[in-house]
Amino acid sequence: MGNGIAQVAARAGYSVVMRDVKDEFLQRGLQAIDGSLQRDVDKERLSTEEKQSIIERIKSTTELEALSEASFVVEAVTENLSVKTEIFSALDRITPPDAILASNTSSISITRLGAATERPDKVIGMHFMNPVPVMKLVEVIRGLATSNETYERVRSLSEKLGKTALDCNDSPGFVSNRVLLPMINEAIFTLHEGVATRESIDGIMKLGMNHPMGPLQLADFIGLDVCLAILNVLYDGLGDSKYRACPLLKRYVDAGWLGKKTGRGFYEY
Ligand code: 3HC
Repeated sequence: MGNGIAQVAARAGYSVVMRDVKDEFLQRGLQAIDGSLQRDVDKERLSTEEKQSIIERIKSTTELEALSEASFVVEAVTENLSVKTEIFSALDRITPPDAILASNTSSISITRLGAATERPDKVIGMHFMNPVPVMKLVEVIRGLATSNETYERVRSLSEKLGKTALDCNDSPGFVSNRVLLPMINEAIFTLHEGVATRESIDGIMKLGMNHPMGPLQLADFIGLDVCLAILNVLYDGLGDSKYRACPLLKRYVDAGWLGKKTGRGFYEY
């Protein structure tokens, strides 16, 4: 999702530093940005020159120290608490003291990420939805120590990015994934129990509920490992058995069938 966030920020006129651990990941991200902007060039909603200047506003690097002058950071690393806390503590050392440190986490506690820094008042959740250039929502999550000033700055930035910010308090899965993931998990249970085929399950939800894609296809797009991680956060954090992940989801993740990104999930890509 990081490349989508970099793209919308650069398109809104900001200078962006996109940082990843490997050059090949950065190249893949830059290619995705190029392809996404090209859609708008093809539809004559963006000129080739504008596309070029958006791309030139994005500097890519593998060095975390390159963020030393950032006024705003959006972290979008893997959905793992220890990786994220390590990054937040490093960002706290590297970035200017008044920089806001936002996380695009889909379910990890913002309060815990804030506690990994000396500036918990400036730590906040900024949860974008995929595909970032298309989806209008930014779910803004306030940790226990997040200040009103930080919240207002995030709301105003979200508007400048062309998004609508809707806020909620820090709670496992926030609102978006607390509602979405049980639906996806239930769809996986219906497949697991032989209630219907994958095509029927997705078709019923698309044609019957007007969802743009069915829950199994959406799970493949999100990544089955990410879905499992979120369900585990809900299960552990809320302590209710209704959030237990379907055994079929666990088996797919064990097999490395993680969805679109690995070429196989509930569908083949
Ligand atoms: N970059 C830029 N534009 C894109 C794009 C991309 N990566 N992908 C699609 N688009 C644009 C297309 O250009 C098109 O624009 P237009 O209508 O203005 O011409 C529009 O989006 C629709 O695209 P398509 O016609 O190619 O395809 P669809 O109509 O099938 O739409 C979709 C694709 C927008 C992805 C739609 O299927 C959808 O809304 N799916 C559900 C997405 C969703 O639920 N996202 C949330 C996931 S949960 C999440 O992210 C949270 C996490 O924590 C788990």
